[in-house]
Formats: sequence, C-alpha cells, structure tokens
Amino acid sequence: MNGHKSAVLWFTGLSNSGKSTVAHALEKALFDIGCRTFVFDGDNVRHGLCSDLGFSMQDRKENIRRIGEMSKLFIENGNIAITAFISPFRSERERVRHLIGSDSFIEIYCKCPIEICEKRDVKGHYKRARMGDIKDFTGISSPYEEPLNPEVTLETDNKSVEAAVDGILNFLVARKIIKALETKARQACGNQAR
Ligand code: ADX
Repeated sequence: MNGHKSAVLWFTGLSNSGKSTVAHALEKALFDIGCRTFVFDGDNVRHGLCSDLGFSMQDRKENIRRIGEMSKLFIENGNIAITAFISPFRSERERVRHLIGSDSFIEIYCKCPIEICEKRDVKGHYKRARMGDIKDFTGISSPYEEPLNPEVTLETDNKSVEAAVDGILNFLVARKIIKALETKARQACGNQAR
C-alpha cells in the first residue's frame, strides 16, 4: 500500500556525532518521496517511554531493547522506522538485528572522532562529563563499541548532511527498500538539507 518496503534504519554513534540531524533530514527526504516514516530519538523516547531509565549499562540495554521492540511494531505496520540512539553496545545492536531480521535492519554508523563531538558539545554534556558531573558518559567514562560491519558508514566530520542523506537513499534503492528516485525528489532532499 505504501509503495515501499519497511525497514529499521538504526543510527549509532557518539553523542553529537550527527545521528539525529541526519535521521531527521533523511525522514524529510523520504517523506518528500511519499514514504511512511517515523524517527525515534532521545527527544521523543527518553522523555516518555524510557523516562524511567538512566545511563547505567543495564538501563541502556533496556533502552535499546524497548526501542528495538517498538521499531519492530512499526515495521510490521509498513513503516520505515528510523532510530537515533548512541546504542553503544555491539551485543545489544546485534540483538535488535536478530529481532528485526537482517534483511530489514540497516545499521548506519555515524563515525566522528570524539574530539570533534566534544568540540560541538551542543548541550555541554562533554564538559560536565570531563568535570565528573555526569557519570558513565559515552566516550569519556563509558565505552562505545564501534560497529564491525555496518551497512552504511557516514564520516560525519567531513560529509555534509545532504551527502549523507543521498548516500543512504542510494543504499535503500540498491536494497530495493524504496524505488529509484526521481530527480525532483533528489532536489527536494538537497533543498531541505541545506
Ligand atoms: S543510549 O546509550 O541509551 O543509546 P541515548 O541515545 O538514549 O543513549 O541518549 C544519549 C543522549 O543522552 C546523549 O546525546 C546526551 O545528550 C544524553 N546523556 C545524558 N547522560 C549521558 C551519559 N551518561 N552518556 C551518554 N549520553 C548521556
């Protein structure tokens, strides 16, 4: 009915690596070509469904488990579910991959050196983590396990949002999740990313 397949586009990467920015730009580009999408990120999940969870290893695992289950419901309903969470543990991401099924789980690694993420420090979290005000901060006092074999790697420190979105759209076409893109849709994606 939607004219596209469903999938989970699972962004992972350090805080401030660009996950949410690219995820929302991608959603807009997909929306513009008529795809049914939904973005889950800290803003709409950690304040609601997962508001009882913190950042201990146990809580992060539970965060990812819930997001995985929720994405599964969305793809059963024909959506393209886009998730943007640090999801630092390889084992938990693999668990979600297994839950969703490899054909429908697309892991997108926002690869950005921690020095750059730290320099961006949009919410001042890195500074507070360095001072010891925030415990278990990913990349500082809690580990981030890089994906070994992600479907897509975006070097977000030297790639524009527009180029990142374009790369993902091409991947989705190659995997036959969405149909070949019209020039107009590509332009729409370029315009909104600027
Ligand atoms: S995850 O590890 O469970 O996947 P999630 O993506 O939901 O993390 O939340 C990460 C966001 O929460 C960060 O971008 C940052 O703004 C905020 N945050 C607050 N405390 C921490 C912490 N200890 N470690 C990482 N991020 C934190």
